[in-house]
Amino acid sequence: MNKNDIITDTVLRIGMNGEGILSHEGKTVFVPFSLTGEKIQFKVLKVESKIAYGKLLEVYTPADCRVRPRCKVFGKCGGCQLQHMGYAAQLKVKEEIIRVCFKKIAGLDVDVKPAIKCTKTYGYRNKLQLPVQYTDEGTKIGFYAENSHRVVPIKDCPINPEWTSGIINAFEKYISEFNIKGYDFKTNEGDLREISVKDVGGNLIITAVITNKPLKGVNRLIDLLKEQLKSEFSLFLNINNTLSNVIYGKEFILKYGPPEYILDTRGIKHKIGVKSFMQVNDEIAYKLYSCVKEMIGDNDDTVVINAYSGAGLLTAILAKNSKHVIGIEIVEEAVDCANKLAKSNGLSEKITNYLGKVEDIMPDIITNETAKGNKLCLVLDPPRKGCDIRVINSIIESGVEKIIYVSCKPSTLARDVGLLVGSLEYINGEIKRVNDYKERYIIRCVKPFDMFPQTKHVETLVCLERK
Ligand SMILES: C[S@@+](CC[C@H](N)C(=O)[O-])C[C@H]1O[C@@H](n2cnc3c(N)ncnc32)[C@H](O)[C@@H]1O
Repeated sequence: MNKNDIITDTVLRIGMNGEGILSHEGKTVFVPFSLTGEKIQFKVLKVESKIAYGKLLEVYTPADCRVRPRCKVFGKCGGCQLQHMGYAAQLKVKEEIIRVCFKKIAGLDVDVKPAIKCTKTYGYRNKLQLPVQYTDEGTKIGFYAENSHRVVPIKDCPINPEWTSGIINAFEKYISEFNIKGYDFKTNEGDLREISVKDVGGNLIITAVITNKPLKGVNRLIDLLKEQLKSEFSLFLNINNTLSNVIYGKEFILKYGPPEYILDTRGIKHKIGVKSFMQVNDEIAYKLYSCVKEMIGDNDDTVVINAYSGAGLLTAILAKNSKHVIGIEIVEEAVDCANKLAKSNGLSEKITNYLGKVEDIMPDIITNETAKGNKLCLVLDPPRKGCDIRVINSIIESGVEKIIYVSCKPSTLARDVGLLVGSLEYINGEIKRVNDYKERYIIRCVKPFDMFPQTKHVETLVCLERK
């Protein structure tokens, strides 16, 4: 097989990134946007010793689950990978991705429960992030193409609510009226770098990330947003003049509207501001938190440790039915927010929030709580890289009975669960498979939550119990 060859063959299965996989001349070939069972024609883009990558040219026998993507830039923009696949098939693919990760990475055969569906398969996102880029063709608002820094211009985005087109229209008019220049990352120049929007129960918090030049015509921008949007909104400016990929600079300046909006989730009233963390899908976040609560149960005798607790919403939800909840979070603002949330909901007595790294703080907390004779339950919701090995070791050494692990990355989830169960061991800085092992924890449940329809991403909840 050589680069630029045009090949016809049949897709065998779907891979971890949602791409079709086939076997040709002894090589495993990855062809995005093709589906299992389809006879396709593809062009070879890259050949390595055992694998190759192809570009889909034609589908001769479309799979039954093939559907027409709603988005005009699907395949060009890097946001969605599965819009060509019916929703039921997407859920099956995500269940399979989790199953394969547990098998390949941890050697574990797990029974993955049917994925929890999202009733809105489009328009579900409550967060939008739009880079504004200056190119030879002028200023573009859009999304980055997959694995690139090139902005693909968009007019709307079907996985975001309908206000998306209003935001883009308002900013486009404003850019053209005031001759505003998008950001040029090669020269670190321009006026406007990024537009970000948070939808807080129908109210929008809009941030225009600018370089350190004063932004012209902000009042006109506010008027244009009023013309285009049906919802209430706030407008912030954020100044970021760094060369890094970090989106926000330190300073946020409120130009219009209230600084925060209030949301009610499972009876917990919480203020969402410009810096607050929100799960991207309200419906699935609600279902996920409800499931965590249900799995812990009404335990007035249990102390829950909520590790990687973010702004403390889940901590507060869990505090209502537990003896005490301990949150641990590395971001100071999130801890402040979690403390305010506990106070405003009358839960301060039942919540202690610690600022710091889980790996530094949690081992002592477990020792202290165990010494007090408290029954412990642990909730882990780490970032994509998963848990530090010190976190895993402290859990193994402890007597924690129940662990609920929430993850947005199946591969690191499988690794950490393998280490907890015992099918993997961390030896001299390396993770190794163990063949004959004594199970430390039993996997009670593996449940996918479809937080991100139309994309390859999935949130997974695993419940483990001490053997
Ligand atoms: C996936 S988010 C979970 C947020 C929270 N559970 C929620 O549902 O809103 C992961 C959180 O872990 C925090 N974090 C990352 N590394 C950490 C560490 N080593 N120790 C403590 N917190 C950490 C991040 O700041 C972030 O708030």
